[in-house]
Amino acid sequence: MSNDVRPESLERITTPEAARSFIDDQVKEIKEQVKDGKVLLALSGGVDSSVCAALISRAIGKNLTCVHVNHGLLRKGEPEQVCKVFGEQFDVNLVYVDAVDRFLDALAGVSDPETKRKIIGSIFIDVFAEEAAKIEGVSFLGQGTIYPDILESKDGIKAHHNVGGLPEEVKLELVEPLKLLFKDEVRVVGAALGLPDEMVNRQPFPGPGLGVRCTGAITRDRLEALRESDAILREEFKNAGLDKKVWQYFTVVPDMKATGVKDGKRAFEWVCIIRAVNTKDAMSATIERVDWELLEKISYRITHEVKGINRCLYDLTAKPTGTIELE
Ligand code: XMP
Repeated sequence: MSNDVRPESLERITTPEAARSFIDDQVKEIKEQVKDGKVLLALSGGVDSSVCAALISRAIGKNLTCVHVNHGLLRKGEPEQVCKVFGEQFDVNLVYVDAVDRFLDALAGVSDPETKRKIIGSIFIDVFAEEAAKIEGVSFLGQGTIYPDILESKDGIKAHHNVGGLPEEVKLELVEPLKLLFKDEVRVVGAALGLPDEMVNRQPFPGPGLGVRCTGAITRDRLEALRESDAILREEFKNAGLDKKVWQYFTVVPDMKATGVKDGKRAFEWVCIIRAVNTKDAMSATIERVDWELLEKISYRITHEVKGINRCLYDLTAKPTGTIELE
C-alpha cells in the first residue's frame, strides 16, 4: 500500500462480514506486494502484532517468519500463549528467542525509569536484528502499525514505527496491512482470523512490560512476585467480569518493604499496589470503584499465595496527577 490516508469510502469494520471482506482484500494486496518473497515480523503477542501476523500468514503461509523475543518482562503465560497460537494453530515459522538473562543482566542495578526503557528498547532492536541476520533472503518487514500510529506520527506526537526502528543496514520493505484501521477494527479482524478472544481483546500493555511495574532497580525475585500477583489480579478480574469492563488493571511491586506478620512470625516483605483505571485515550484516567469484597479477596490471595508479599494497597490516584503506570 502506498497511501497513508484512510479513504472516505472505507467503512468502519464492525461486523465479521466486513472483516472477512477486508481480510480477502488484504490477502490479495499482500500477495501482490510480497510475491514469493520472505517477510519477517516481531511478534510481541500484543493485539496489533498478533493480528498482523495472522493476516500475513493467511496470505503467504510459511514465507512469514515471526520472531518472539522473551525479555523476561512479559506477563505470566504470555510467551507460552504466543508459541501455542502461532506455532501450532497458525503454523507460521516461529523463532522464539529466550533473551531473559540478557535483558535482566543489563537492567540489574538500573533504577531510573527512562534509562530502563532505553535499555529494554535498544536490546530489543539488537536481538531482533541478530535474528533477522540469521534468516536468508528476507526482504520485507511486517509491522502492526495502525491508523492512530500514522495520525500521531503526522502530529509529531510519537515516532511512527513502534518497533523502534531497525539499524540502517537492515533494509527491508514494510508490509503494514492494518495501517488504515482503528484499534476496534483490528480486534474485529483478529476475531475473524480465528485468534483467541484473550489475545484480541487484551488490555493495553506497555512495550517495556513488567519492567516499569517492578519499580526501581529490577530484581529477579521481586519481578517474579510481581508476575504472580498480576496473574492473581487478572484471574479474579476475569472471574468477576471486570476484564470486559475495566480499561487497564495491573499490580506494581515497588522496591519497598513493610513490616508484617506471617505464620506468627515477623515478616519484612514487599508491598503490592493494585491499580485499575478507565480512560478513552489514556491522556486522562479515572479510578475503577472495585467492589470492596473483591479487593479484599484479591489482597488475601496475593498476600497468602505470592512469596515475598505481605501487604496490598489500592491506588486511588486519577490521571492527572498520577500517570497510569507508576514509572
Ligand atoms: P501513562 O503511564 O503515560 O500511560 O499514563 C498511558 C498508556 O501508555 C502505556 N505506556 C507505555 N506503552 N511503552 C508503551 O508501549 C511505554 O514505555 C509506555 N509507558 C506507558 C500505559 O500502559 C498506558 O496504557
